Amino acid sequence: MKLTDSHAHLNDERFRQDYAQVLARARAAGVTTIINVGYDLASSAAACDLAEKTEGLYAAVGIHPHDAASYTEETACMLRKLAAHPKVVALGEIGLDYYYNYSPRDVQQEVFRRQLRLARELSLPVIIHDRDAHDDVYRILCEENAREAGGVLHCFSGGAAFAAQCLQLGFYLSLAGPVTFKNAGELLEVAKMVPPERLLIETDAPYLAPVPYRGRRNEPAYVRLVAEKIAALRGMEPEEVAELTSRNARAVFSLDQIV
Ligand code: NI
Repeated sequence: MKLTDSHAHLNDERFRQDYAQVLARARAAGVTTIINVGYDLASSAAACDLAEKTEGLYAAVGIHPHDAASYTEETACMLRKLAAHPKVVALGEIGLDYYYNYSPRDVQQEVFRRQLRLARELSLPVIIHDRDAHDDVYRILCEENAREAGGVLHCFSGGAAFAAQCLQLGFYLSLAGPVTFKNAGELLEVAKMVPPERLLIETDAPYLAPVPYRGRRNEPAYVRLVAEKIAALRGMEPEEVAELTSRNARAVFSLDQIV
């Protein structure tokens, strides 16, 4: 089975001690491709470093809504520089987080818009973080013509109606550990309704470990459990889910164009 973890943070300091073992376990589980996603400038640069050193690893660079208040013209300038790296495949993660509200909402929205424009300027797809902000995320994606950049709603947490809206906009939906949780609720419906050509899977490691590791540090090897759960829900073989989600990741992030 060949799996793609479309969203992980091996650039996080929680992997500094045992990065090599984590990567070895991912390989042993069949995870051939991992997109490491930045959330501030330091983690974006770290994602580029890891991608440069390791086959099958790629990077996304961007400023998380938690850090929106730190975003300046200089930040944009640094992101442009980082994005020039040949293994940078997306701008992310960017978006809105109305659960924690670490940055004021109006600031989050403005920085989200600026990074969506940057993605269009750089012709990169976007990786969207949306927590408790579905309506504003959707409105801003429409207003900023994000369809042109394309991309993925990572760790999708909405219901079937919101999923349909995002699919209509041309976006991919990525499912993570929560689809395995007892309280997965509407996610079970979403896992069944996403067209096969728009589905991605991820870990969001070190966060959101799937059952039976819930509450522990997550790692890319566990993306297999997400694939297995979705396969069970859709009446497919895990291998098929692994194959189609890997194919979709190659498409949305244009991985075949990277030498
Ligand atoms: Ni993330």
